Amino acid sequence: MSNLIDTSIAIILAGQSANGAVVASPTFSQYGYSWLRDGMWIAYGMDAAGEYDSARRFYRWAAETLPRYQTKADLLLAKLANGDTPAEADYLPTRFRLDGDLGTEDWPDFQLDGYGAWLWGLVKFVNRHNDDDLWAAARPAVVLLVRYLAALWQSPNYDCWEEHRQHIHPATLAAIYGGLNAVRQREPALVPVGLPEAVRDFVLQNAVSADGHFMKYLGNNEVDSSLLWIAVPYRLVEPTDSRFLATVAKIERDILRPDGGVYRYAADTYFGGGEWLLLTLWLAWAYIELGRRDEAAKLIAWVESQATAEGQLAEQVEGHVLDQSYFQPWVDRWGTSALPLLWSHGMYLLLKSLMKED
Ligand code: BGC
Repeated sequence: MSNLIDTSIAIILAGQSANGAVVASPTFSQYGYSWLRDGMWIAYGMDAAGEYDSARRFYRWAAETLPRYQTKADLLLAKLANGDTPAEADYLPTRFRLDGDLGTEDWPDFQLDGYGAWLWGLVKFVNRHNDDDLWAAARPAVVLLVRYLAALWQSPNYDCWEEHRQHIHPATLAAIYGGLNAVRQREPALVPVGLPEAVRDFVLQNAVSADGHFMKYLGNNEVDSSLLWIAVPYRLVEPTDSRFLATVAKIERDILRPDGGVYRYAADTYFGGGEWLLLTLWLAWAYIELGRRDEAAKLIAWVESQATAEGQLAEQVEGHVLDQSYFQPWVDRWGTSALPLLWSHGMYLLLKSLMKED
């Protein structure tokens, strides 16, 4: 195996189509689509690794794809304004075919975090590279998404794991907050006055448990590793905020395997619920921001130890699943779980670059 950085770049480039769309996993039966959440993080990791062109092509692709759904979004917003309840199919999708079309299978589409994530990543990229041309090209998509998020942020919607449709998820709100805040920094007039603060205050008022940590969703006192997003990177609070530190501590207690990686959440049964490589890298990122560099290095080394001989990183690993009885039913349903998962490779590139900088 050549080094895992080069292999990661090669795997991502092989999964990116000429128009810039990036497949979530080239081999897993369900993941032959381009997600905005996965794609943004893959692009962010590629940018950090010096692969600017690949990152830019992804942002361009989404900037061209989203306005194709302007009419769909307008109809939805009109329904909401009329007080009508939209049908599930009225919402914008969570993933697109690589040609930008909608998929034909049923999928948990009403999901908002990916839109916030994409806005956040886009602004980071544009600012980092002074890429006014990209911003100009992306503006119609940005305007569309800000309207969409402004109308819907308080609605229950699927979480980033495409579960729990009826609940409100702080990690999702953090992505929305991060995206809106980023757009406002770039071009203040595009964001309704006070909207990012309204999102933030809602989380702080409703999503902190009695013992002081952020909760998986409103009314559920467990933690989920995606809660790390609240501070890293979306800065709804600072990483040193006591509520964030309490969340990290509970993640460590409840869903970090000693000498292993992190789980998504304690009740996870998807493919039995294994440790997720990209989330383990996220905890490493939080550690870097908290000055806990040795612990970050240990988690990154563990992720490296999970790469296959060909240098592929999975979505999750099977050695210590939370509930073995759920493993085979998922394999029977969809085949073996995603390997490689390009989001895992994107996060790996990001973390290697952060460790170098630090
Ligand atoms: C995960 C999503 C992810 C998608 C594609 C799903 O299983 O829950 O977060 O975007 O896979 O990787």
